[in-house]
Amino acid sequence: APLRPLAGLTVTVSAGGTREPLDPVRFLGNRSSGKQGVALAAAARDAGAKVRLLAAHMDVPPPAGVDVVTVETALELREAALHAAADSDVVIMAAAVADFRPADVSGTKIKKRDDAADPVISLVRNPDILRELVEIRDAASRNQLIVGFAAETGDADGDVLEYAAAKLRRKACDLLVVNHVGQDKVFGQDSNSVVILSRSGSEPQEASGSKTDVAAAVIDRISAELSRVVP
Ligand code: C5P
Repeated sequence: APLRPLAGLTVTVSAGGTREPLDPVRFLGNRSSGKQGVALAAAARDAGAKVRLLAAHMDVPPPAGVDVVTVETALELREAALHAAADSDVVIMAAAVADFRPADVSGTKIKKRDDAADPVISLVRNPDILRELVEIRDAASRNQLIVGFAAETGDADGDVLEYAAAKLRRKACDLLVVNHVGQDKVFGQDSNSVVILSRSGSEPQEASGSKTDVAAAVIDRISAELSRVVP
């Protein structure tokens, strides 16, 4: 394999967890640390790509040598992603995007008041950025590789890979990197264990080890997919 398989290419990576404000001091967030996305950005950089990191809330600093765009909410991430995707060869959506946001954001801190009922938070759906990126790419017949992530838990109705295969069909991205999440697994940890599913139908591929190892495997797989499309 070439030493810098992504040389000359632009790769956009989203990482971390979005935060959806309730009022000036409170938000709904999630446990994403950003570690896997940061490892992917570093691996893409090491593979020779020009890298843009769309950074939602992260517990770790961004890697050196990549352009960083900081975002807070899913809607901000959507804007940044649509903009960055316009000139990217590869887009990797590793961010944990909130599926819902509070319907109303209070301009002032929500107060507890003895004479008022306890507040109720109504939520509205956030757009599915990954799905939208695929739709835009397909409408323009662009040659762009789009990679999604999925954190799945198995249950009585189906196993992790069944759910993941259904998600890959629904999202229609090219690769889906599937995490099997259980209690205390994955979030914030330094290691990860994933299965990479491909829409082109090739065999599911397992990768595990440090998040750096997993990132290297994902970048290898992306390089392989690209060289299949553009020989
Ligand atoms: O549907 P689910 O949230 O499991 O899908 C996860 C994948 O979709 C991740 O790649 C995530 O970054 C992306 N996503 C998105 N926009 C959302 C929710 C998830 O792009 N609103």
